Amino acid sequence: MNTTARTGAPAGNLADRFHATFGAAPDGIWAAPGRVNLIGEHTDYNEGFVLPFAIDKRATTALRLRADHTVRLLSTFGDQGLVEADAAALVPGTVKGWAKYPLGVVWALQRHGVEVSGFDLLLDSDVPLGAGLSSSHAIECAVITALNELTRARLSAEDMVRLTQRAENVFVGAPTGIMDQSASLRGAAGQAVFLDCRDQAVQLVPFDAREAGLVLLVIDTKVSHSHADGGYASRRASCELGAEVLGVPALRDVAVADLEEAAGLLDPETFRRVRHVVTENDRVLQTVEALRAQGPAHIGRFLDASHASMRDDFEISCPELDLAVDTARAHGAIGARMTGGGFGGSAVALTPVDDEQQVRAAVVRAFTEAGFTRPDIFTVTPAPGAERIS
Ligand code: GLA
Repeated sequence: MNTTARTGAPAGNLADRFHATFGAAPDGIWAAPGRVNLIGEHTDYNEGFVLPFAIDKRATTALRLRADHTVRLLSTFGDQGLVEADAAALVPGTVKGWAKYPLGVVWALQRHGVEVSGFDLLLDSDVPLGAGLSSSHAIECAVITALNELTRARLSAEDMVRLTQRAENVFVGAPTGIMDQSASLRGAAGQAVFLDCRDQAVQLVPFDAREAGLVLLVIDTKVSHSHADGGYASRRASCELGAEVLGVPALRDVAVADLEEAAGLLDPETFRRVRHVVTENDRVLQTVEALRAQGPAHIGRFLDASHASMRDDFEISCPELDLAVDTARAHGAIGARMTGGGFGGSAVALTPVDDEQQVRAAVVRAFTEAGFTRPDIFTVTPAPGAERIS
């Protein structure tokens, strides 16, 4: 067991701050990472395939159970101050700010029959907020990992995935799938998480960009997105309509070879949405195959095709994401795409180590010239999933 968080505040500092705030030592400290998705976008709620990985940036939570029902929450970021709630009286849709994530987990656990008393919680995180790297799921996964242990609920990773999804869907009000929390809970160092979203089967696939002379750059466009807003839900609704018209349980059941026939059955917009999901599932499978057989240097064209499909068929990109992707490609990246739900957030660019500085400089220059906010650019590597760190 590690005694310090690899990223974010060292566990010792967080424990000291917890003591200073709440007057006692925490029961423990747990951490859970954000994620980037290598490929497989908007396929999770269509029961398809995704290939995300847990990143080396994470939410860290110090937590101590209380004897009463009071929940007290404090973060090292944001200006919300101390939030107090009654664990026995949580109502979906009523909590604002980051506190809705831990409280959503409590609500989902209780609905699942797990008795959760009150607790004190101090949260730290170095997952950039609103960058499309699942900062909210990192919080939820750290909290559910802590509460699973402290309440002795003995939930499996699959249970925790479903419960954090319920917290997001019902308590927070974002109709998201299961990709993000699966990466955060089930990720492993040096591995991408190949997840079948129909049965939650996971295969870890080695993804070591450095070994292949590459880095995975994240370009945070600073365009904020929210999956509780309309765009994500309307794409999901189009997919459900497509599956219904095509007479399948989910778009997972449509093959690339079925698309020609589907074109005659669907209105043009729904067809384009369906085509994205169907071809994206196929690209995930091809990427996994290429990674296993040849390594990271051979997946670039799938990343590029994924971005084009999201830009043209699913229509979830934006000018900043397109500029990031095009500029990175033009200056040496071997493949690039937006990652996450879309409408803002981050792009990823798989880049030869020797071209990294040139790509960074070119993207910043292009954003300045376009009059966009300066992007944040950093590298990520696949890191361990949620764990107790102290
Ligand atoms: C968000 C959601 C995920 C997934 C992606 C798109 O990150 O939380 O469930 O749908 O968008 O792939």
